[in-house]
Amino acid sequence: MSSATVLAATLAFALLPAVLAQTTHSVQVGPNGNLVYDPPFITAAAGDTVRFTFNPKNHTVTQSSFDAPCVPLAGGASSGFHFESNVTGLLDTWEFGVPASSSPFWFHCEQTNPVSHCGKGMVFAINPPADPDPHSFDAFQKLAIQLNGTVNSASASASASSTDTYVTPPAQSWATATATMTHDSSTWTTVYTSYDGTPSPTYAPDGPVNHVIKVGIDGLNYTPSNISAAIGDTVTFEFHPKNHTVTQSSFLQPCKALAETSTTGQVGFKSGFQFVADNQTDFPTFQITINDTMPIWGYCGQTGHCQQGMVFSINAVESGPNNFAAFKALAMRNNTNAAVAGGSGSSSSGAPNPSQSTGAAVNGKPMSAVLALGIIGAVAALL
Ligand SMILES: *[C@@H]1O[C@H](CO)[C@@H](O)[C@H](O)[C@H]1NC(C)=O
Ligand SMILES: *[C@@H]1O[C@H](CO)[C@@H](O)[C@H](O)[C@H]1NC(C)=O
Ligand SMILES: *[C@@H]1O[C@H](CO)[C@@H](O)[C@H](O)[C@H]1NC(C)=O
Ligand SMILES: *[C@@H]1O[C@H](CO)[C@@H](O)[C@H](O)[C@H]1NC(C)=O
Ligand SMILES: *[C@@H]1O[C@H](CO)[C@@H](O)[C@H](O)[C@H]1NC(C)=O
Ligand SMILES: *[C@@H]1O[C@H](CO)[C@@H](O)[C@H](O)[C@H]1NC(C)=O
Ligand SMILES: *[C@@H]1O[C@H](CO)[C@@H](O)[C@H](O)[C@H]1NC(C)=O
Ligand SMILES: *[C@@H]1O[C@H](CO)[C@@H](O)[C@H](O)[C@H]1NC(C)=O
Repeated sequence: MSSATVLAATLAFALLPAVLAQTTHSVQVGPNGNLVYDPPFITAAAGDTVRFTFNPKNHTVTQSSFDAPCVPLAGGASSGFHFESNVTGLLDTWEFGVPASSSPFWFHCEQTNPVSHCGKGMVFAINPPADPDPHSFDAFQKLAIQLNGTVNSASASASASSTDTYVTPPAQSWATATATMTHDSSTWTTVYTSYDGTPSPTYAPDGPVNHVIKVGIDGLNYTPSNISAAIGDTVTFEFHPKNHTVTQSSFLQPCKALAETSTTGQVGFKSGFQFVADNQTDFPTFQITINDTMPIWGYCGQTGHCQQGMVFSINAVESGPNNFAAFKALAMRNNTNAAVAGGSGSSSSGAPNPSQSTGAAVNGKPMSAVLALGIIGAVAALL
């Protein structure tokens, strides 16, 4: 035998245990008509196979992300719908090969007819961190129920006292719309994000207005805390003593930066911490420009301030469920937010409309930063 042959034989032998160690994991999808995966999560190694068996009814196994449990991950794997009648003996299967990278992996059932299976907690994970990690399987399932459950009863009863009758308002849904705008005798067509109750996009009749919101001049508040602003207007936040921020968030996760919760890659604006001494007479400012009619939500990033109601809105639709009072109430609900807010979520996924928001990298400097808000803006990221 040549030494090369010996080497090859030795290598082959050395690799053998690794090959044999690859495992096929079996997961039942919707066994006994229940909206579950059984087991609900597994630990698997790169190269392992997960074989899903579809039980009667009509389910999918679809990859999602931790932050958006019930939304298919862009470029993620999906079995597609598998309808099984209960008379045939042979059940469909679908296999997922565990990739070498970026564990954990999150999945859900996409069925929404007649109810959202995911919103009922029909989610699955490979290699989720154990409790009490904020990205545990339980946290993932709770978030699915919170975001897509028809009524928030499951998470509310799990985390709140019996006197708590708060029901989280529904997620906002958005569409892009087109409008013809006239300004300074020119007319053009614009695309904007439209939501029930949002006004048509117009400029303020006498030209853009600058709205001033004072931060922390009256306790832990923005003053005023909910404003309407037209396209082209600016909003200047003026920081008063103590140490606050102006950070964009989303309706359903009031106390988390949009960048951490967005499923469309939105960054959102951030002033960074603005320390102002008690005897200071010049107040740092942070400015944004309004380019769209969609509501803008935000909060103070200082520890505990948001939970005490230090939030603001611009162009909230006061006539609907996603109004400023509902947003503030959600911010002040520690339990829900704590469950959702625990980790720094990295989102990656797939709504069709990537945001054009430019995050402001202005942290820590007293400044006047003009920040562009994306005009076509976010769809799912505002949830
Ligand atoms: C399974 O569900 C999907 C989505 O609701 C639906 O489009 C499809 O027609 C269903 N399949 C059958 C065979 O009912
Ligand atoms: C099959 O489904 C039908 C309709 O849902 C039901 O009436 C019947 O009892 C089921 N049969 C079995 C063997 O589960
Ligand atoms: C969950 O809610 C999001 C946002 O409303 C929606 O896009 C998605 O289709 C829902 N998914 C399920 C499975 O309910
Ligand atoms: C402002 O608050 C942040 C966060 O708590 C802290 O890191 C920073 O040191 C504070 N700035 C001053 C000047 O106290
Ligand atoms: C503000 O107060 C600090 C500490 O109390 C002092 O050092 C500083 O000189 C004062 N500044 C002004 C403008 O009064
Ligand atoms: C709720 O938040 C407030 C303010 O941060 C805090 O003082 C309080 O302890 C929190 N309560 C719970 C139950 O977490
Ligand atoms: C919204 O702002 C208006 C005007 O500043 C104020 O009267 C109203 O109370 C605010 N709404 C809430 C829910 O705070
Ligand atoms: C928002 O409006 C400002 C002022 O007109 C403009 O400079 C900026 O480019 C706009 N942002 C976007 C994303 O269109």
